[in-house]
Amino acid sequence: MRMVRLPDGTEVPALGLGTWHMGERGSAANTELVALKLGIELGVMLIDTAEMYGNGGAEEVVGEAARGQRDQLFIVSKVCPDNASRTGMPAACDRSLKRLRTDRIDLYLLHWRGSHPLGETVEAFERLRTAGKIRYWGVSNFDTRDMQGLARLTASANCATDQVLYHVGRRGIEYDLLPWCTEHAMPVMAYSPIGQGGRLLQSKALATVAQRHGATPAQIAIAWTMRHPNVITIPKASDPAHVRENAACGAIELSPDDLSLIDSVHPPPSAIRRMGTTIWRMVRR
Ligand SMILES: NC(=O)c1ccc[n+]([C@@H]2O[C@H](COP(=O)([O-])OP(=O)(O)OC[C@H]3O[C@@H](n4cnc5c(N)ncnc54)[C@H](OP(=O)(O)O)[C@@H]3O)[C@@H](O)[C@H]2O)c1
Repeated sequence: MRMVRLPDGTEVPALGLGTWHMGERGSAANTELVALKLGIELGVMLIDTAEMYGNGGAEEVVGEAARGQRDQLFIVSKVCPDNASRTGMPAACDRSLKRLRTDRIDLYLLHWRGSHPLGETVEAFERLRTAGKIRYWGVSNFDTRDMQGLARLTASANCATDQVLYHVGRRGIEYDLLPWCTEHAMPVMAYSPIGQGGRLLQSKALATVAQRHGATPAQIAIAWTMRHPNVITIPKASDPAHVRENAACGAIELSPDDLSLIDSVHPPPSAIRRMGTTIWRMVRR
């Protein structure tokens, strides 16, 4: 498994298991549990979840999947912005720990920017870190301007990652955020790496490259996010066939020809794109 370095040099897997929409329906819980367990069995040891997913239900599925193998896993969860205050965060973290059936979250992220002052949120993260309830903290859906603001705060150097939307069809972060994070030795976590399984998978460029590698377009989309040494990618899959495909992506090496074909159809950005629209859409869902 390819690894990526956190700012303190600790290595974490470059490929993880997403969990958005898990834990929402009791009828799907077993399928989701089987999918996560299969992913772990196939060596995918990073799991991304959030208190928001399934209103805590996704964390419960993760807790169940992690039983007996917690120490081998790197668990990422996220606090909702409304809870990211001095008093709200410790309580939210305790609830997450209980659902995850663990005594620590490996990486705890602010899901997106809310109304609590960022300095207060960072202070709350630091207290949890000192108490041993989280190992690392980070942010999500922060653009470069947000990261620059964060960098001015005390203890901001302990921010371990920014988790953002990144796939072949949404390359905005390449313009400034990915270089900024790389310069600060901070990995980016790419969410929705296969465009949520939608239209992106109809891409002719992905289909052509997939044929060259005897792979699927989804595998190429995931391998493409992993081509950057500073990116961790977290595709979500409930279908066991998808889990198997995704777990094998670390072995796919894209050639310069593959990358230029993808660039010709899905060009890199030529201007800054703010993340506001993404967040707005997410909040409305
Ligand atoms: N921080 C944030 O604000 C944020 C926002 C969005 C997502 N995330 C995180 O990132 C994770 C991934 O993003 P996402 O769930 O939005 O989208 P995604 O991983 O790009 O796509 C998931 C969809 O693709 C399908 N799929 C998975 N593997 C496939 C394959 N090999 N071939 C064809 N289809 C495949 C899945 O179907 P099946 O489930 O049926 O297998 C599911 O419908 C989330 O689960 C979550 O953990 C974070």
